[in-house]
Amino acid sequence: MTSKPLFRALPGADALIDISFNDQPLRVPGGRSVAAALLAAGIDRFRATPVSGAPRAPYCMMGACFECLVEIDGVPSRQSCMVTVRDGMRIRSQEGARDLPPVAAEPLENAHGR
Ligand code: FES
Repeated sequence: MTSKPLFRALPGADALIDISFNDQPLRVPGGRSVAAALLAAGIDRFRATPVSGAPRAPYCMMGACFECLVEIDGVPSRQSCMVTVRDGMRIRSQEGARDLPPVAAEPLENAHGR
């Protein structure tokens, strides 16, 4: 018995594009998420947990679990399953917790003026 696949590739999905992951050049199919492209290239470690450093990789592929966080073009904590891969992207694994932004010189007010 044969069955049709449940998923269809987006237009342009067969065209190969060049990206890098942790400075390793990769040629991946376009027309899909960064997570899908990296998985197709054999990448299975996307980030490390802040506490134990345990390896993590995409789980839900729909923006719910946050296991797929990577740095994309210098921006940390991007959900790679929610970003479309583009030619020339520089992607890095996210190691532990990202840095906090610098402390503001003036105290920040909340919506209640406190
Ligand atoms: S794989 Fe779950 S949020 Fe990206």
